[in-house]
Amino acid sequence: MTTIGLIGAGVMGRALAQNLADRNLDVIVFDRDAAARSRAAEDRRLTVVSGLGAMIGKLPAPRTVLLMVNAGAPVESATGELRMLLAPGDMIVDGGNSFWRDTQRRTTDLAKTGVDFVGLGVSGGEEGARRGPALMCGGTEAGYARIRPWLEAVAARADGKPCADWFGPDAGGHFVKMAHNAIEYGVMQAIAEAVQILQNGLGLSFPDMKREAEGWGAGNRASYLLELTQDILGRSDRETGKPLIEVISDRAGQKGTGGWAIDAALSFGVAVPTLAEAVFARTLSGSPERKDVVERLGAPARKGGLERTDLGDALFAATLVCYAQGFQLIRAGAAQHGWVGDLARAARVWRAGCILRAHLLNDVASAYERTPALANMLVAPGIASTIAACEPGWRRTVAFAASHGIATPVLSSSLAYLDALRTQRGATAMIQAMRDGFGAHGFERVDKPGMHHADWS
Ligand code: 6PG
Repeated sequence: MTTIGLIGAGVMGRALAQNLADRNLDVIVFDRDAAARSRAAEDRRLTVVSGLGAMIGKLPAPRTVLLMVNAGAPVESATGELRMLLAPGDMIVDGGNSFWRDTQRRTTDLAKTGVDFVGLGVSGGEEGARRGPALMCGGTEAGYARIRPWLEAVAARADGKPCADWFGPDAGGHFVKMAHNAIEYGVMQAIAEAVQILQNGLGLSFPDMKREAEGWGAGNRASYLLELTQDILGRSDRETGKPLIEVISDRAGQKGTGGWAIDAALSFGVAVPTLAEAVFARTLSGSPERKDVVERLGAPARKGGLERTDLGDALFAATLVCYAQGFQLIRAGAAQHGWVGDLARAARVWRAGCILRAHLLNDVASAYERTPALANMLVAPGIASTIAACEPGWRRTVAFAASHGIATPVLSSSLAYLDALRTQRGATAMIQAMRDGFGAHGFERVDKPGMHHADWS
């Protein structure tokens, strides 16, 4: 029987421990918090200990310790303590949303002591952890081979195949998880914008909005996040009886993965403007100047209508663009850091268990299987034709939102991204001319190689 030490019996840790126990693994659980230990001990299959030393003592060598604590300081301190207690050949698996550069640093640092450090992206929330998450593993290939049996056993399944895979050394897994989260930011923002158009632009009631959202997720546009949207739109607040989202503050939180993805994209030179808009939309939602701007500028005049199918098309097209940008980011990261740049693999792993699970990933996986070097997900034949079909409604939606003063950073910037990519000759020759005009930065010419200057005298 495989024995695993699990540190962190919070919501995710306890659920994953129970999932491991379901697969007949022996799980030794430790949490600093006595209340969390008591809750974990309610499941008699788990061995709960009150100290790290006790846990290490119960693990057969080579030991495997799975960290299910928050990213940042908790992972840092648990890793520091384990460093003193573990022996060469042992392994630490970090199942948190850790910053990928931290994972690289920890991998190098632990390697000096002979301990394998594995960054593991775990997606799917509590339900996923309990019933089957999507797992994105980094670390050495040999390390992955060692833990693969139990990773595959606990993972979600799509078409009978486990949604667990290896994405390259050190931070390969955490980087793919970060890209997953950045796409998640984009898709969630796109859905939020579409709901706002229904409510503020078209003035629909909540039951009608729920019906519209059911249409958005019909057939091959089905996704977990759209199912969740339908659920939310049908819910009322227990205390007031009002629709649930009416009583929730519009200030969105974020734990960092979205911003890290944008930072990485900037450093690798990959354009992910739509994902960046989604991160900034959350930042803006909490910005103090909103109140003053609302008071001074008020609501704009509204005119014109919108076909309901237009909005669904806009949402689906914007969703495709979010995925496309995320895949471009994974490819760039893999090229820079020697990770696995097989995008079909990421699409396959995300088909079940994770927050991004969606029917469209079947088509994306097939597209990258057929053409691994596909320049951009949007040019895959089936996807390009979907984009073309959605385009008229997408444009009308963006125009409608603009004329009604409804902010649609993701629906709009995804369209701008497509337009920028598809324009034969972009607007940027003008930028090059200005750069040369004020700073003698030089420009390339269309008719001969090399850098050139205009005569500005
Ligand atoms: C998942 C989620 C999960 C979590 C994010 C949310 O894949 O299960 O992405 O990791 O929801 O941490 O991040 P924010 O707090 O930044 O929205």
